[in-house]
Amino acid sequence: MPDTTPTPPARREDCAGERGSHALISSAAGSLEGSCAVPGDKSISHRALMLGALAVGESRVRGLLESADVAATAAALRALGAVIERAGDGSWVVHGVGVGGLAEPDGVLDLGNSGTAVRLLAGICASHGFTTFMTGDRSLRRRPMGRIIEPLERMGASFEARSGGRLPLAVIGAAQPMPIEYRLPVASAQVKSAVLLAGLNAPGETRVVEPAPSRDHTERMLHRFGAEVKTGADADGGSVIAVTGYPELAPCALTVPGDPSAAAFPIAAALIVPGSDLVIEGVGINPGRIGLIETLREMGAAIETGRVREEAGEPVADIAVRAGPLRAVDVPAARAPSMIDEYPILSVVAACAEGTTRLNGLAELRVKESDRLGATAAGLRAAGVSVTERDHGLDIEGRGGPPPGGGLVATELDHRIAMAFLILGMASEKPMTVDDGSMIGTSYPGFVDAMNVLGASIAPC
Ligand code: S3P
Repeated sequence: MPDTTPTPPARREDCAGERGSHALISSAAGSLEGSCAVPGDKSISHRALMLGALAVGESRVRGLLESADVAATAAALRALGAVIERAGDGSWVVHGVGVGGLAEPDGVLDLGNSGTAVRLLAGICASHGFTTFMTGDRSLRRRPMGRIIEPLERMGASFEARSGGRLPLAVIGAAQPMPIEYRLPVASAQVKSAVLLAGLNAPGETRVVEPAPSRDHTERMLHRFGAEVKTGADADGGSVIAVTGYPELAPCALTVPGDPSAAAFPIAAALIVPGSDLVIEGVGINPGRIGLIETLREMGAAIETGRVREEAGEPVADIAVRAGPLRAVDVPAARAPSMIDEYPILSVVAACAEGTTRLNGLAELRVKESDRLGATAAGLRAAGVSVTERDHGLDIEGRGGPPPGGGLVATELDHRIAMAFLILGMASEKPMTVDDGSMIGTSYPGFVDAMNVLGASIAPC
């Protein structure tokens, strides 16, 4: 049996200049052993609530991610007329109103930190003939919405936004939406999903042409709820996804798989903390999400998947990870969509590998919850790691062992930056401090306790 006694908290006197508020310090961890689970998939949780709200009748969702981001989606859907209730730990019941059955909310929808919530809900609202006002936190208000405004305007909706297409946003939904064919200019599952969801309440077939594959949770879940979704090849080697409008969505019961983007943190910790041998149970392994595992294996990581099964129309597996030496790799730009949220934690692993790891094709990281390229590079520098920041990439020089550590990381309201550098502190020579751990709850509630049970020493500063 692994020892599950939490290790003593890191010492406050080691905090790198930042004390109080929500700062956290992470110091050397004991080996991670045994097994653990991670919270439900964030992308799938949003979609389960949204499609449940558009089905006719009662859907039951188990394993829902109970995080701030998903709570924002639930609150928005309630304001739009759906009834959403918590039935127990991770168990939720959604009483849907049917496609086209949502009602104008009488207040402003606050989507907090969640890009997925605002973009997918804007898609849904764009084909309802009423006006919706949306806003979010300081991070979300900085992020570009022009990428959804453009196709949704073509479907007949109109928008008012701040300069640069930024929130707050008014979505003036089309009373008579039109189906379109839209070629994605960026590989984005959020944009693809916004158009497909808008197409549910439009006549005929709405088509999205995807030059490179992005996560297909929306397509899988639409299929699961009984919509007609077809996928085919495009003449240029991409794919075409077509949804037929006005389906009667049938309510379902589904279990949300563990989030591979959350699992990335214990996976990385087990790789870089010597002596670790850990199994993470029930993790989603959708082909659009496993670029990190592919990359880590190329770096020499011992990662095995077992007990492969299906949940909610998604492939799921247990993932076994053992610590060991890692070597640098070049990560191709084409892999970015399948690991888009994993670059901060991959960068931490790269800092412990032997040689220079090159990450390419990362323009999209500039417009995530933070400028993730800049925030990752700054965090690595704070940990004493040599890094070159390019416009669309990072070169990280690993020492083939523990990085120096000892620095303070500015998390810029970004949950994944906070978690990545707390994991770095588990393997570095000196502890790492992050200035604000409060955003971790947007995707991984209970992260600090879960890591501490596994052997970490993360504590408030
Ligand atoms: C998501 C898609 C990705 C990802 C985000 C979740 C989704 O964003 O970064 O965390 O649920 O569709 P983009 O579509 O902007 O790449």
